[in-house]
Amino acid sequence: MKFSVIHGDVLKHPCGALVVGVFKDRLTETAEAIDKASEGAVRRWMESGDISGCFGKCVLFHSIKGVAAERVVFVGLGKEPLEERLSTEVQAAIKLAYMASSVVLTTLEWLPQSEPEWIAEKTALFAQTALDRPKNYKSHDVNWKVPALIELHSKTRKTAINKAVQDGAEIGRGLQQVKNLADMPANLCTPTFMATEAKKIAKEYGLEVKVFDKKKLEQLKMGCLLGVAKGSAQEPRMIILKYQGGKKNEAPIALVGKGLTFDSGGISLKPAKTMDEMKYDMSGAAVMLYAIATAAKLNLPLNLVAIVGCTENMPGGNATKPGDILTSYSGQTVEVLNTDAEGRLVLCDLLSYAIDKYKPQCIVDAATLTGACVVALGNVFSGLFCTDDDISNQFWLASRKSFDGCWRLPLHKAYRDAMKSNFADLANVSMAGGAGACTAAEFLAAFVGDTQWAHLDIAGTAWKSGKEKGSTGRPLSLLMEFLRARIASKA
Ligand code: BES
Ligand code: ZN
Ligand code: ZN
Repeated sequence: MKFSVIHGDVLKHPCGALVVGVFKDRLTETAEAIDKASEGAVRRWMESGDISGCFGKCVLFHSIKGVAAERVVFVGLGKEPLEERLSTEVQAAIKLAYMASSVVLTTLEWLPQSEPEWIAEKTALFAQTALDRPKNYKSHDVNWKVPALIELHSKTRKTAINKAVQDGAEIGRGLQQVKNLADMPANLCTPTFMATEAKKIAKEYGLEVKVFDKKKLEQLKMGCLLGVAKGSAQEPRMIILKYQGGKKNEAPIALVGKGLTFDSGGISLKPAKTMDEMKYDMSGAAVMLYAIATAAKLNLPLNLVAIVGCTENMPGGNATKPGDILTSYSGQTVEVLNTDAEGRLVLCDLLSYAIDKYKPQCIVDAATLTGACVVALGNVFSGLFCTDDDISNQFWLASRKSFDGCWRLPLHKAYRDAMKSNFADLANVSMAGGAGACTAAEFLAAFVGDTQWAHLDIAGTAWKSGKEKGSTGRPLSLLMEFLRARIASKA
């Protein structure tokens, strides 16, 4: 899909499909113009019920008098303009117009109160991903047609609109890559495969890459990460990507990701029912690899380093057992009371390493960390845990702008106290029970110290279960908005 911005009389513009909005009791500018050109056809069709202004309802007409487009898709926008509806409206229209070789969108008319650059970017992002479906391995797959060109109609000739459209499309492409990687089965997407993928990303986006194998991780004394990897036949990998878009001496933002290419639970084995979904336990790693790649593509003026830890969690003969004690990279010892609470073991080493090696201005991590977070927030919000209000506000802003929401939950010493162990500095689970997402976050806090930090528990948001099973690519959009909020806060 290519994207561009067009100007002038949209009715005279030849294209496969023109997408036009209609409110419940009024027409948008283009709908009004089509009504005039077609001698009142639009109003007639609204009266007869062929066109509906109800939110999300779409109809397709062929060859309307006075309109150069082969097809016109009318999209119901509801009673009033609402930003949060844009994704449904754009995606419903593109789904209906998928057979058109080019589609013109007129979304800038739909939200008169909103910033045009915001509309332009989100329109492109939603259009780019509208026809996505999980990559599959079926032997006889049907061909999936997508429009080759999407054009946004704009009355003004601002270059900022074109930039917003290109950026939105790029974030959409990033989202698709996250989805494709996360949807892969765990027999193909192994830690070594993740490293190969990272090298490919580095080459394509011009990033610096480092891959640490098991031997190197042993030299670094990453005892917790290695403790998780012990039960698996697959070797672990730690992967680092670097992007230098900011001033030479400016401290980077570290992006840390949980990359469990499969989490069986280890010796504390998970139940069989939905265990297949634990192939998605590397979603945090996937999103961080493509967040740094997309930031590079967008030329963001920031220094970034992505650090992801990839391993399987398996119940092999050599696996870590409940009661085993691991020594983390930081030197703190951890009693493993439940081998299924492995994400925090991987992350604690990554976080300490990130701070030690890169002295970042802040760290953001994304991890499918706890089932408890799914209970607390469902698939609506990612859990957000922050060390201070500044970074929390930046995420709050990003959450509202991206519609890829997160919601703040508490870090508190009481949760740390509940992880006291008789045998090690810390146990990897709580003795008190309850508050699983907060406990896991507080465990990580023990390795972060004073560095500004935000932890995203994406267990409920990274993928969909059931009939619609597939990766969502979240929270890539949120992270991109956060990085921009960060730039704005500097200015
Ligand atoms: N990867 C899981 C978390 C998870 C579970 C994500 C279900 C999405 C859906 C994580 O490693 C895990 O198993 N956590 C345990 C922690 C518990 C043993 C303290 C959990 O949430 O049950
Ligand atoms: Zn687990
Ligand atoms: Zn896990």
